[in-house]
Amino acid sequence: MDLFRIKSVERSIAETDEPETRLKKELSAWDLTVFGVGVMVGTGIFVLTGEQAYSNAGPAIVISFVIAGIVCGLAALCYAEFASTVPVAGSAYTFSYATLGELIAWIIGWDLVLELALGAAVVARGWSAYLQSLFDLPTWLAGDEAIPDFGAIAIVLALTALGVLGTKLSGRFTSVLVIVKVAVVTFVIVAGLFFIKMSNYTPFIPDSQPSKGESGLDSTLLQSVFGVDPTVFGVYGIIAAASVVFFAFIGFDIVATSAEETKNPQRDMPRGILGSLAIVTVLYAAVSFVVTGMLKYSDERMNTAAPLAEAFKANDLDWASKLISVGAVAGLTTVVLVLMLGQSRVLFAMSRDGLLPVGLAKVHPRFGTPYRITILTGVFVAVLAGFVPLSELSKLVSIGTLFAFVVVSAGVIILRRTRADLDRPFRVPGVPLIPILSIAACLWLMVNLSVETWVRFLIWLAIGFVVYFAYGHRSSRLGKGLKQVDADGDVSGGPST
Ligand code: ALA
Repeated sequence: MDLFRIKSVERSIAETDEPETRLKKELSAWDLTVFGVGVMVGTGIFVLTGEQAYSNAGPAIVISFVIAGIVCGLAALCYAEFASTVPVAGSAYTFSYATLGELIAWIIGWDLVLELALGAAVVARGWSAYLQSLFDLPTWLAGDEAIPDFGAIAIVLALTALGVLGTKLSGRFTSVLVIVKVAVVTFVIVAGLFFIKMSNYTPFIPDSQPSKGESGLDSTLLQSVFGVDPTVFGVYGIIAAASVVFFAFIGFDIVATSAEETKNPQRDMPRGILGSLAIVTVLYAAVSFVVTGMLKYSDERMNTAAPLAEAFKANDLDWASKLISVGAVAGLTTVVLVLMLGQSRVLFAMSRDGLLPVGLAKVHPRFGTPYRITILTGVFVAVLAGFVPLSELSKLVSIGTLFAFVVVSAGVIILRRTRADLDRPFRVPGVPLIPILSIAACLWLMVNLSVETWVRFLIWLAIGFVVYFAYGHRSSRLGKGLKQVDADGDVSGGPST
């Protein structure tokens, strides 16, 4: 059984380099930066800030954001190299197929469901909570406690319909939403400064205390391995919170997949990715600093699905809380949209390769969109967003994404050795040191997630293995040796490479 058959880089590129699907190279570093900020700023800052300050880090949540930002910076460099070397849709899935072979690629594709579909569900729930706060909707309809969450289901289905119809949100519309979002975040920082009470920062790093949870499953994997009782707050709490608020940075990897459309990837990719990461890190640190200054971290209102709006309400600024909700609703819409698009692209790539039923990759005759995959993704996300509690979801998203980052970072080192000859418009400096640091940093955040999250993650991967052996391995196009396309674009029926 050839579990590690590799799909060559040439073949990946040749399969997509059709004249009708060749993308124009017109993006600049600025475009990438706007895209990055647009995709990243979402639930992480609008929702998880409060929840994690309340339950894990206290005001030191600021430090958690900075740690998560640095880890992402390392991984971002690796993504930029891969994206410029293998500029093909499918993100980490495609990269792994070219380096680590089919089994790992499959597992990464399966794992990306956690980042993209589950991520979209988490953000949709945040969207619904802010909608509820904006219009004072009945809580059975939308918001934190609503199960089923009709608001979340509605936004997911509406965006799914958009995806099927192929309605492209024009660049200008997306930019407007990004401006609204950034303006609101800036407003929170500037207006909030006036309502900071220094006493709310004491203690800045609350003393470590036993976790309120009943079972050992609530402790982090690290604590559990070393037999430490589950704790929250303190230094452990800061790192545990970093692993969760890492969610706020998710999305820059989707930016990396635009390498193929970038004018000068060598210069613009790192500028765009690292630039947007730097901007959001500063915004996140500033917002969390201000919000924990406005409202004591231990206040129950921090632990709701709309903590930024609550912090302003708590200071009798109801109008400001409405403004924040408008910004959040507008801003989270683009995040859900991009995550779902990302998910359909990965599943599309997997179906095209035969690892999922090829019929799923069918493109709509009129709209020209992969409508089957899009609908499947939409229904799946709607069910998740409608019925599963937010905090449980968000941690799985983080572990899934971190795992993909580890594999991509390892892939950079491997591809440098196996295919030194490839043209790399962008090269990570200091290989193998930077990728190794990236792997170590991601693993570090992963072991600081709870045992429960790990158990769920491993169960998800185990299901993935079963599906692969029951289906994907047999039906793989590469495995069947179908239509070999070589570097010159010649098609033959030869064996797989
Ligand atoms: N980074 C995105 C968010 O926080 C996924 O919503």
